[in-house]
Amino acid sequence: MRTPVVAGNWKMNNTLAEASALARGVAKGVSDIKGVTTVVCPPSVSLVPVSMALNGTNVFIGGQDVSSNAQGAYTGELSADMLFGLCTYVIVGHSERRSMHGEDDGTTAAKARASLAVGLRPIICVGESLEVRDSGDAAAFVASQVEGSLAGLSDVSQVEIAYEPVWAIGTGRAASPEIAQEMSSAIRGAVASLYSSEAAEGIAILYGGSVNADNAASYAASPDVDGALVGGASLDGEAFSRIVEAFAASD
Ligand code: PGA
Repeated sequence: MRTPVVAGNWKMNNTLAEASALARGVAKGVSDIKGVTTVVCPPSVSLVPVSMALNGTNVFIGGQDVSSNAQGAYTGELSADMLFGLCTYVIVGHSERRSMHGEDDGTTAAKARASLAVGLRPIICVGESLEVRDSGDAAAFVASQVEGSLAGLSDVSQVEIAYEPVWAIGTGRAASPEIAQEMSSAIRGAVASLYSSEAAEGIAILYGGSVNADNAASYAASPDVDGALVGGASLDGEAFSRIVEAFAASD
C-alpha cells in the first residue's frame, strides 16, 4: 500500500516571518490527519526557521532544488548534504527549472543521484507542454522523461515522481482526473519496464498543476495518483490542509 504524499511548493514566496507563520498554520491544520505524508518546500533561506517551527510536528520539509555537485565553487547553489540537515525531500526537475534554467532530464537525473547519495528523497518532476499534448504524444514523451530523469538510479524505492503538465501549472487549468490517472498509469508502466513491477507498485506518483482544495478529492480518487505537488494553493495553510485531508480520506 502506497502512502500518499502531499507536498507544497512555496516557490519564491514569503518572507522569513511569513514562512514560519505558514508552517505553523500547516502543522496545526494537519496535526490530526493520518495516513498521508505532508511536506512543505519553502525557499532555502527559510528552511531553518521553518524547521524550527515544525519541530515535533508530523510535517516534513523539502528543498525546491539541489546542486548535482557535492561541494565547491558553485555560487548560489546548495548541496544535497547541506539540505539533508534540514530536509527529508527535495524537488528536482521542476518545469520552472527546466524552462528557465535550461535543465534537462540528464541534469535532473544527476540531481536525483546526488540527493539519494546522502539520503534525501527526490521528488522528480516530469510533464508535457501543451504542444506535446496537442500532438497526441504526451504519454510517450513523459515515459521518455521518466527514463532520462531516472538514469543511473539503480533503486527507486526512495523516489517520488510528480506528473506536472506544463500547461496546468499556475494556470488554473488543472488536468482532468482522467488525464492525471492515464498519465500516472503510463509513468507507472515506464517504471515497471525500467525496473520491475514491484518497484512500480511501490512508487508514489503525485499529480501537480492547479491542484486546490476543491479539486483535490477527484485526484485522490484516482487509483494511480498517490498525492499532489501543490504550488499556489500551498501558500494558504487552510486550503493546503484540506488538500492533505482529501488524500487521507481516499486512503
Ligand atoms: P500550481 O503549481 O499548483 O500553482 O499550479 C504546481 C507546481 O508548480 O508544482
